[in-house]
Amino acid sequence: MAERLKLTGIGKHFGAIRALDNVSLSIGKGEVLGLMGDNGAGKSTLVKIIAGNFRPSTGTMELDGEVCDFSHPRDAQEAGIEIVYQDLALCDNLSAASNVFLGREIRKEFGPVKILDYRSMHNKAGELFATLKSETRPRDLVRKMSGGQRQAVAIARTLLADAKIVLMDEPTAAISVRQVAEVLDLIKRLRDRGISVILISHRMPDVFGVADRIAVLRRGELVCHKATRDSSPEEVTGLITGAIMAA
Ligand SMILES: Nc1ncnc2c1ncn2[C@@H]1O[C@H](COP(=O)(O)OP(=O)(O)O)[C@@H](O)[C@H]1O
Ligand SMILES: [Mg+2]
Repeated sequence: MAERLKLTGIGKHFGAIRALDNVSLSIGKGEVLGLMGDNGAGKSTLVKIIAGNFRPSTGTMELDGEVCDFSHPRDAQEAGIEIVYQDLALCDNLSAASNVFLGREIRKEFGPVKILDYRSMHNKAGELFATLKSETRPRDLVRKMSGGQRQAVAIARTLLADAKIVLMDEPTAAISVRQVAEVLDLIKRLRDRGISVILISHRMPDVFGVADRIAVLRRGELVCHKATRDSSPEEVTGLITGAIMAA
């Protein structure tokens, strides 16, 4: 598998707090990496570094073999890295299509002015939902959607952006069992398109159901980075709690 993203010796401290220490890991093209660890282990900090929210205190990051140094989330987005936040950051009062195109609206010339091209946006949003095999309709209001459909809207945004890497922080933490299956299917669709996904989750069945590799952080240190098939939920639980030191 060709390496898409490679982190070497990443460290991050906030004053006296050492959130990450010497973390080295990689993710291949079209690979799903399950990132696990207890609260405060450094998962969100790592994902925020990749997404350009924080600069690492030490270490380097390479995307497709080129060193990158993001000083703003916009830099990471331009490089093809999209993050789906836990709260999804959607506008409840807008339609699915409007949310997909938020900040990236299609406009058309109308005499001397440019106006929003709703038809093109609805058509394109419809195509993206079809790609994701989601039943979401472009005109549906986000306010009326299930958790799984909301995830589909957030993920359709990443497809529109033509992302290389999608970072998901706890996407299945607050949704029902049936919707979890929907979200895992969405992650598989991204992977099938060659998009790399980093999935932060506390839920063992989700990670073991969809991740190709697993990485475990404990108190800012990487204690495991290996193929899912070479690990087990028991081992990962032991690594998270510290009952197993490293694997
Ligand atoms: N912006 C910040 N300022 C100060 N400390 C932070 C900040 N973000 C995270 N931390 C600290 O870094 C450590 C790792 O946090 P975090 O990455 O959120 O862990 P996780 O997502 O695994 O729960 C924690 O001790 C947390 O309190
Ligand atoms: Mg977190």
